[in-house]
Amino acid sequence: MIIAANLKTNLTRKQTAEYVNKLEAFLNAHNSHQEVLVFPATSSLNSHAGKVIIGAQNAYPAKNGAFTGEIGVDHLDEFGIKSILIGHSERRHVLGETQESIAKKFNFYKELGFKIVYCVGEPLEVRKSGEKNMMEYLDAQYEGIDTSYESLIIAYEPVWAIGTGLTPTLEEIESLHLKLKEKSSAPLLYGGSVKLSNAQEVLALNGVDGVLVGGASLIVEDFSQMIIYAQDLEK
Ligand code: 13P
Repeated sequence: MIIAANLKTNLTRKQTAEYVNKLEAFLNAHNSHQEVLVFPATSSLNSHAGKVIIGAQNAYPAKNGAFTGEIGVDHLDEFGIKSILIGHSERRHVLGETQESIAKKFNFYKELGFKIVYCVGEPLEVRKSGEKNMMEYLDAQYEGIDTSYESLIIAYEPVWAIGTGLTPTLEEIESLHLKLKEKSSAPLLYGGSVKLSNAQEVLALNGVDGVLVGGASLIVEDFSQMIIYAQDLEK
């Protein structure tokens, strides 16, 4: 399974190095074969050799150039980074990225062969407006995205479940995942308030190939335990 940590705007460079080293030691001690991805803050990116795969939370679709405040492929290449998170709800809703700019970024990094964790998810008012509207909203987040890209991982993260402690019911997660699986056969992660207390049951659901964890991933022991849960399920 795929267990991913989105560290967001947390953990300094030093703290991230400690985190990744602890995680790597854990994976080796447990002979883990789970796919473990960590997305540190941009200034905490660094080279890493081992089982943990380091990815960027964001980068501009350019090698380099005049894009103040952004990083490009050169900055990822420096650390051998070949994975990226695209379409996260915080980038869509807080930073204002449009589907068009997201698709452009997706295609740019796809051409470079990056592993892409592509996020989709609906705000609460959309969910409340009914199943048909919700599926149309999610459909629109697949526009311009090659759903058959071989290095694609999709993450379903309901916006209202991110950082709130709220989650859909297990039945809702399963049924939505099975619907999203009809759009793409890429591995499908669930994200949004995944914690130690619910990770095991979420991971066990049909159509769930892993989890994308924010807040609870900051505690390396908790995140490591989720990897054990995944390993025990042996999906
Ligand atoms: P939380 O786990 O903090 O809800 O965040 C989820 C998320 O946004 C992961 O990308």
